[in-house]
Amino acid sequence: MPSIFLLFGGSGRTGQITARAATRAGYQLLAPSHVECPLEDAEAVSDLVLHSKAAVVVNCAAISGLEACAANPLQAHLVNAVAPAAMALACRHTGARFIHLSTDYVLDGRRAGLKNESAKCRPAGWYAESKREGELEVLEALPEALVARVSWICGNPARPAFVEQALARALRGEPLAAVADKYSLPTDAEDIARVLLSLAEGEAHGILHLCSLGEPCSWWECAHTALQEAVACGTLPAMPPLVRQELDKVPFFREPRPRHTAMDATRLFTMGIPMPTADECVRRVARRFLAALTGC
Ligand SMILES: NC(=O)c1ccc[n+]([C@@H]2O[C@H](COP(=O)([O-])OP(=O)(O)OC[C@H]3O[C@@H](n4cnc5c(N)ncnc54)[C@H](OP(=O)(O)O)[C@@H]3O)[C@@H](O)[C@H]2O)c1
Repeated sequence: MPSIFLLFGGSGRTGQITARAATRAGYQLLAPSHVECPLEDAEAVSDLVLHSKAAVVVNCAAISGLEACAANPLQAHLVNAVAPAAMALACRHTGARFIHLSTDYVLDGRRAGLKNESAKCRPAGWYAESKREGELEVLEALPEALVARVSWICGNPARPAFVEQALARALRGEPLAAVADKYSLPTDAEDIARVLLSLAEGEAHGILHLCSLGEPCSWWECAHTALQEAVACGTLPAMPPLVRQELDKVPFFREPRPRHTAMDATRLFTMGIPMPTADECVRRVARRFLAALTGC
């Protein structure tokens, strides 16, 4: 009888890939949809975990848009903090392994450099505040839980992120611009899913930085690398112009965004779990996206 893997957020960018990885790994997947289990209802969330007989519970669900959180801070609080705490508490009763996803945006982003798990937090804005509250409440309810902070998720062609969006725009011949003064590390959803499956069996707990390796880079650098890959495989005839944008001048960004949140993934590395560099991650994601579009 296969073990049950209960996945919240299975329709999201990371959730879709994690669902496939869990099924491939031989788990029986239970992935309630948003409609089947709205995370605003903590009691329903708790009941679901308590009655699921799950060996592993992974939470990839969140309100992950900063502006969406600002538009409804109460909902952000319920979904990003109260619901994960209810999952953790229920796992404490059932003995299930619990892994919750969080974000580099909880970190103090004022100073440059890589930040490890004990670096200072300074969440700015409704999204980051709700996610930090979620981290703290999960670990208080269940100290054995693992809170995996991820950053700049890309690599799911069905849910294009900044790397894929830059390529798609370039292929349509549209003007290209990317923020050049904000730094983190891009992470392939396939890598996140692989690590989640690997850690589902283990006992690692507390905060874990789960991202690509290397030096902090900007969205501009990631987009530039992706476009280089498109030129190298002949999908683009030449490098298109890519304008450097300033973070403070992006009209859509009404919520504050931390500038320097690249995470140090040494803890993950010392667990013997390989991760690509940011450069390798972007090139691989670009190649996968181009292959899906053009067969390149
Ligand atoms: N995207 C990034 O670059 C990034 C960076 C750092 C950290 N993170 C964190 O990584 C995790 C995964 O992010 P992601 O980008 O893969 O997420 P995503 O694509 O935004 O997907 C979010 C998932 O949560 C579900 N969901 C949202 N509101 C819900 C609600 N009220 N009730 C039930 N389900 C709800 C969505 O279902 P529907 O689609 O059906 O609404 C979807 O399955 C999140 O914890 C996020 O905070 C993301």
